Order: sequence, then C-alpha cells, then structure tokens
Amino acid sequence: PVTGTGTGTGMDFTAVAPNTQDAVVIPDGYEQSVVIRWGDPVIPGAPRFDIAAQTPEAQEKQFGFNNDFAGLIPIEGEAARFYLVCNQEYTTEEFMFTGYEPKNPTENQARVSMAAHGITVVEVTAESGTGKLTPVVGERNRRITASTPFTLTGPAAGSEFVRTSADPAGTRILGTIGNCSGGLTPWGTMLSGEENFPNYFSGASAVTDPTAKERLNRYSFEDDADYHQWGRYEERFDLSKNPNEGNRFGYIVEVDPHDPSSTPIKHSALGRAKHESATIHVTDDGTVVAYSGDDERFEYIYKFVSSRKVRSGTSAAAMRSNLRILDEGTLYVAVLTGDTPRQVDGSGELPAGQKFAGTGRWVPLLTVDESGRATSRIEGMSPAEVAVFTRMAADKAGATKMDRPEDIEPHPKTGKVYCALTNNSKRGTTGEAVADAANPRNENKNGQIIELTDDHAGTDFTWELLLVCGDPAAADTYYGGFDKTKVSPISCPDNVAFDPHGNLWISTDGNALESNDGLFAVALDGPNRGETKQFLTVPKGAETCGPIITSERVLVCVQHPGETDDASADNPSSNWPDGGSSQPRPSVVAVWKKDGSIGV
Ligand code: FEO
Ligand code: CA
Ligand code: CA
Ligand code: CA
Repeated sequence: PVTGTGTGTGMDFTAVAPNTQDAVVIPDGYEQSVVIRWGDPVIPGAPRFDIAAQTPEAQEKQFGFNNDFAGLIPIEGEAARFYLVCNQEYTTEEFMFTGYEPKNPTENQARVSMAAHGITVVEVTAESGTGKLTPVVGERNRRITASTPFTLTGPAAGSEFVRTSADPAGTRILGTIGNCSGGLTPWGTMLSGEENFPNYFSGASAVTDPTAKERLNRYSFEDDADYHQWGRYEERFDLSKNPNEGNRFGYIVEVDPHDPSSTPIKHSALGRAKHESATIHVTDDGTVVAYSGDDERFEYIYKFVSSRKVRSGTSAAAMRSNLRILDEGTLYVAVLTGDTPRQVDGSGELPAGQKFAGTGRWVPLLTVDESGRATSRIEGMSPAEVAVFTRMAADKAGATKMDRPEDIEPHPKTGKVYCALTNNSKRGTTGEAVADAANPRNENKNGQIIELTDDHAGTDFTWELLLVCGDPAAADTYYGGFDKTKVSPISCPDNVAFDPHGNLWISTDGNALESNDGLFAVALDGPNRGETKQFLTVPKGAETCGPIITSERVLVCVQHPGETDDASADNPSSNWPDGGSSQPRPSVVAVWKKDGSIGV
C-alpha cells in the first residue's frame, strides 16, 4: 500500500550514474537476480529453451518475448506467493532466430513469433529475507498468445466493423498483440493496452473504399509497417482478404489471473487506440475511473468513468460484476489549455519562478448506460463508430494533441494523475502542430511528465508539468523547481509507478542523453518536489519497463536488450543476462537491499 505523498522519503540510495554498460547497474548495497527470461518454462511440460530448436508448441509453454508491463497480484491465503502478470509486447525476429532474413519468416518462425506475444501469468514465490522471486511451473500459470480467444464487449461488439468470415457475430477475437503497459484493478485483474497493432497487418494498400482507407490511415496502417509478415501464413492478418481484422485490435484487455480457463475480455467502451495502458482510480462512492494514453505523436489522453459502482470482496459474484464494470460508462478525451501562453515559444524555456500549468476539460465521446444502451456523443458517428474509430471521434471533439502519451497512472494516496509524454520529434515541423503550454518544445527529444489534478468522475481538471526532461544543464529542462545541479538526468519517460512512500518512479525508453535507459525515483511533494534520482540502468539497447516498487523489492522488465543498429542473434551487441557470447534475452529482474532491511 502507498501511505505517503512522495516527499522523497525512501530515496536515500546512491544514484546510479549514466552509463553504457552491458549490465543491470544498481546502487551500492543492493542485490539483483533474474526472475524469468524469454523462453523459460511457464506451463508444465515446457521444454528447456533452445534458441536453435524453437517451435510454436514450445513457445506457447514458455515465457514470451519483450516483457513490458509487470504486475504482482498476491495469491489469497498463501503468504509469499503471487501471480506475476506480464505483457509480451512484440517480437524482433532477427534477435530471436539465427540466420533470420528480415521480413521473410518461415512458417515456423512466424508461428513462434505469434506464440511469443501476448500475456504471461506465472506463479512466483518470494524468498524470505531477500527480494528474490522464483517462478513455479504449475497449473496456475497461463500463456495468452496471438491466438487465444477473447470476448469483445461494449459498443464495438457485433458491429459491422468487427465482423469477419471466421467470426460472423463479431464478438470472439483470436489473440492480443502489442501489449505494452497496463495496470492492476482493485478487484484483482490485470488490464493491458494493445498498442502497436497496425504493425502486424499486410494489405492496407489493397483497400480501396475511401472511408475504409481513411480509417486505416488514421491508425497508421501501412504495408511497410508489417514487420512480422504473419499474413502469409494466417490470412486474417492480410487486410486485402480480411479488411475488418485490424479493427479487432487496439483495445484495453482484461485478464483474470485467478482462473486460467477464463476467457479474457476486450473492452471497446474504452475506445480503440494505440493504448499504452489503463489504470484505475476508484472514487469514494465506488465509481471506477480508468485513465489511458494513446501512444503516437500528436495523440490524446482518455478517461472512462463507470456508471456502475465497484463491488467489494473476492466472491465469484463480485468478480463477475466487476469484470463488466468497464463496459458501462462514459468515455472522455482531454482538452488542455495553458494559463500562461506567453511562456510558450516552442523553446521549452520557462521564466524563473514560473510553471507550465493550466486547466483542462474532459469532452465526452460515448456513453453506455446501465442497461447497456450506447449513445454517441459525437455528431455524425454511431456508438460503434466511436468505439472502433475513437481517434476520429476525438479529432471532432477538439482534443489536445500530446507528445506521445505513454503510461498514465493515478497516485493511490493523492489521486493526482501522472502521465509520461515520452517525446515528439515532429512537433513544430512542417505541417505539424506547434508547441503549446503542455507540450512546450518543438522537436521534443526528451519528453515531459504532466500531473493532472482531476475531478475524477467529473469533467474538469487542472494540470502542471512536473518534469520537462533532458539535460539538467540545458535551459529547456525543468525538474519540478528542484535544484537542477542535484538531479539525475532523465530522458524519454515511458512507464510510471509509485513506491510505498508515494514517490513517483519512472522508467525510460530511448534515452537521448547518451546513456542506457534507466529507472528513476522522483519526489512529488514538499521542498524536494522534482528531486530525481536514477535507481538503475538496463543493458545496452534495452528499454526499462514495468516497474513495481514495493517495500520488499524493485521489479523491472528489461525489454529488448541488445536491440542496437546492425546487431542480430548472429551478431549480438549484448550478452545479457547469460553472459559469454550468448544472445540477449528479455527478462524480468528483482532488486533488493542486501542488508535485509526493507524499503527502497
Ligand atoms: Fe510500447 Fe508506447 O511503448
Ligand atoms: Ca511503453
Ligand atoms: Ca504504470
Ligand atoms: Ca515507449
């Protein structure tokens, strides 16, 4: 539980300096171990990982590739046991298979890649006295892949936009892909955002109907983006043959890890976007508010406010009720206005003593009432159109174009909502939107963190930039008003999380400051607000994801280690975590204090 407001208490570790080591570098006095890596057994009967002998049948039973979000859900009644839930976001085939020919997979390679996607649920046990976690290969575990059946709920379900020859009813979708960040719900499930789904589809150029084409363009479907070429072996990924299949991805999905046989859900009432994540705030009266970002340049921030109240308790009836709570409510998109537009010249420089701050409002796009009746709030669009082509509805609503909204999460104690805006190299370039108060830099390489003070179930909020990231010595950076000579440099924030003291933790993706990516703690409240300290860095070519910060351990996902230019499985640029001349393997790592004391 988070008990503090984030005054910097607990941030007394020695900051890790920027570096380019091929290692997870942690502060003095801490220890680490790999919890699970790509290919490790998950389902009973899984073979040992052998990079030279991969099969889809083996991969379906093993931990998938490129772990992004991670969550730990305690197993009720069993001390020191958890479900570790983890997104397996995407594959880079040239790092998975030796001798791989880019964009030219064999059928075996394509099907291994499909099986390496999705979500993993794996039971882990905690070692007493340390932060170490060990996976248990057992019946509780589950691999969800690009082929696992999901139920589509909400206004998109059954609509003309999602019906296919294989699913004429438009309610049963095979697989989840592009699962980036996510969140845990108070009722014990995991939410996961389907992010870069257009990269899995071929044949967009063969679609000639102008309306269908415009919709594909709005979601950046392009033939060249189809890196995986699954459509050669599974026709549903070829839009020239199945033009609706692409409309069946891009949702917030929900998994109940307590029941490995449950059918996971795609909730279309939360809209369709390159959802990075969805995270939950529950108001005093039990209304559920889900926040979500759409991670592409100039895309939007959304929230969903439930019409029903959450049911407490862990009974099967409560779970059944809560699994439907994200199906009925109102979907909104954010419009942000600056208090002080004169500060904004696109340089990101802030006059001394001032803040980037302003007000905002949530504009409704779609409402589903408690009887399930959906109403579009956008003229000229049906409820199903809003649910499936949400970006176009948000365009009409006049939403504010943001610098790639990545993870967004409400603070469990203060309720303030933090969103990482990772970067936007195109802002202010020819024909594109120019800097505004909340996105104050043109050609923004380093990103910023925005803090929303939201009337959660209401339609108004205020906002302030907490960090304008980048080199602290540069005039265009801002660290919450804290002394910039005393902070760790941070760049390209991606995931956000909170420690038990209420400090914000940020993992980065794409550090533009000549260091490997890392994980940072940031004080939010009091005189230390804006103090930023790097807790760890990840190996060469990796991105830091999925952080979990508890009093026992820091858990971090090391995604795509060794993903550097010109590297491949034949020519690895990283040998982490196995060392020697091994190929790098995406892994989950636990870090804890050596002296046995708790806390970070
Ligand atoms: Fe998968 Fe937006 O990062
Ligand atoms: Ca991300
Ligand atoms: Ca998060
Ligand atoms: Ca990212």
